[in-house]
Amino acid sequence: MSNLPKKNEEYGTREYWDKRYEQEPEDATFDWFKKYADVAHLIHDAIPEKSAKILMLGCGNSTLSEDMYDNGYKNIVNIDYSPVVISQMSSRHRGRRPEMECKFMDIRDLQFEDGSFDVAVDKGTMDAMMTANGDVWASNKNDPPQRVVEDCTKEVNEVVRVLRKGSGTFLYLTFGQPHFRRRYLAREGASLEIKQIGDAFHYYLYILRT
Ligand SMILES: C[S@@+](CC[C@H](N)C(=O)[O-])C[C@H]1O[C@@H](n2cnc3c(N)ncnc32)[C@H](O)[C@@H]1O
Repeated sequence: MSNLPKKNEEYGTREYWDKRYEQEPEDATFDWFKKYADVAHLIHDAIPEKSAKILMLGCGNSTLSEDMYDNGYKNIVNIDYSPVVISQMSSRHRGRRPEMECKFMDIRDLQFEDGSFDVAVDKGTMDAMMTANGDVWASNKNDPPQRVVEDCTKEVNEVVRVLRKGSGTFLYLTFGQPHFRRRYLAREGASLEIKQIGDAFHYYLYILRT
């Protein structure tokens, strides 16, 4: 595939994502790990209210938001720090999904009021940030690089800030095992539930309730 990076850590750069989306056809879609159909039962359990206000973190050109929208979750705001994919996603949904919003934004610096969302969803976005500056397996004593720790901490801090206190839910779908992810998600006063998905190769759904 020509859109694969030369080095894994390119997944942690905005340049890589812009170039990748520029090379793809305007209407291309790609889903990392899982599609809505694979996890719909888990999403329904975690988001029983179809009217919930949902923030999609690093939407890329995934079909997750549109499948959720078409299934009744109409109140979705997609954000991504690639202006290229945000322009493509805006054209894709314009007319067809009038309530869907697409905004250019960095997940480490959310331009939303405190407590303004019921749910935030991350599918593979924190994972992309984690590739920056090398491989977590290769660092000393399994400690990830400082930049990765800062970026992931900023994301989760921002998510917790924009979620409604007492009733907010952060859903994070990843291949990352609890040993590598729990440190970013554990927050005082919030509960963390972890669900394992799949048989041979496992994925994980982290559910942080604020
Ligand atoms: C691995 S893809 C996942 C895309 C989509 N969530 C999915 O499930 O297929 C990562 C996406 O996150 C975006 N991204 C990475 N870091 C980001 C950041 N700091 N702020 C906003 N978007 C980011 C990239 O541009 C890319 O579209």
